[in-house]
Amino acid sequence: MNKKVLITGGAGYIGSHAAVTFLEAGYDVVILDNFSNGSADTVRRVEDISKRGLRLIEGDIRDKSCLHQIFSENEVYAVLHFAGLKSVAESVSDPLRYYENNVAGTVFLCEAMEEANVRRLVFSSSATVYGDPVENPVSERCLTGKLSSPYGRSKSMVEEVLQDIAAAKPAWHIAILRYFNPAGAHPSGLIGESPNGPPNNLIPYISQVAAGWRDVLRVFGDDYPTPDGTGVRDYIHVQDLAEGHLSALEAINKRAGLHIWNLGTGRGYSVLEVIRAFEIASGRSINFEIERRRLGDVAECWADPTKAQMELNWKANRSLTEMMTDAWRWQKNSLPSA
Ligand code: NAD
Ligand code: UD1
Repeated sequence: MNKKVLITGGAGYIGSHAAVTFLEAGYDVVILDNFSNGSADTVRRVEDISKRGLRLIEGDIRDKSCLHQIFSENEVYAVLHFAGLKSVAESVSDPLRYYENNVAGTVFLCEAMEEANVRRLVFSSSATVYGDPVENPVSERCLTGKLSSPYGRSKSMVEEVLQDIAAAKPAWHIAILRYFNPAGAHPSGLIGESPNGPPNNLIPYISQVAAGWRDVLRVFGDDYPTPDGTGVRDYIHVQDLAEGHLSALEAINKRAGLHIWNLGTGRGYSVLEVIRAFEIASGRSINFEIERRRLGDVAECWADPTKAQMELNWKANRSLTEMMTDAWRWQKNSLPSA
């Protein structure tokens, strides 16, 4: 019998790619999603790509009875926990919603797991927990600094909750995965990132400018202490990220306790380099203007991925060109949103 994973937030961007990866690796999949930022259509596409069926439950991680029912009806081997809200700006204007959804939601999920004797968890954290990194590349040991948003603090709080669970309950196997900047889409062009309204993140914004949905990309600052003055980030293909989850689950299966891994490529690219790579991949020119710096942005942040490479036997292999090519293929298949 196949092992079964519960994927919270599996109808969203990263969770849907992980669902494909796990189905293709022979796991059975149950997805729990409240569709606040995901859709049943995405899940159907996951089934089309992997040519396998899965169980989709529309529900909320904060709904205890829903969780109870899922764990009693399914023999869940592990939980991949992607469900959460992710807009930095929204978290500043509505912090309670972020703490309730991201922090309280995770507490409810862990309670239900403990009750059901399911104690393998892979959690989606973020490089945002490093704040303004004291050094680059950033390793897992880098002290987490002052965080600039409730979103970032919600991730950091969940990490602490999980540390406490692991300390109190040795039977738990927990992976905290700190993602750098996820980008790209499945090469089929069937699933990818679909921001609601104007995108906050760089690559979805560039894609929409290339597609003619938006007139101009605002480049937030060209006066950073970086080679070309624009911000530098570690963009990682969402497929590499999804595969990192598979490796992480296999690793924690062998080792109890809590483990933290950076998922990044170890290489930073500037905003201007990303624009150029997208222009080459799409054959379109990107209209951009230099604006003042965005509040809360750091100059540069890229990963030291050595720990994940050594302990997970995993490496991000896909290039920036592949990320841009796949992002553009997905963009061309997408319909305009608001
Ligand atoms: P996403 O918004 O595309 O996916 C999240 C999914 O969770 C959505 O389908 C949404 O409907 C669902 N959801 C939200 N709250 C829920 C709840 N209470 N109950 C059930 N379902 C709920 O986001 P994503 O980009 O796929 O991110 C997945 C995770 O990775 C998030 O936790 C996010 O914070 C984290 N992360 C994302 C990035 C990024 O750049 N995308 C970077 C670092 C970390
Ligand atoms: C942002 C969040 C981070 C979150 C991550 C999720 C902030 C301050 N940080 O990271 O907490 O985990 O998204 O993916 O919001 N840029 C532009 N023009 C744009 C958009 C972005 O120039 O329209 C620049 C930014 O200044 C930055 C780079 O592009 O230098 C990447 O930005 P973005 O994609 O938003 O990611 P982060 O800021 O790294």
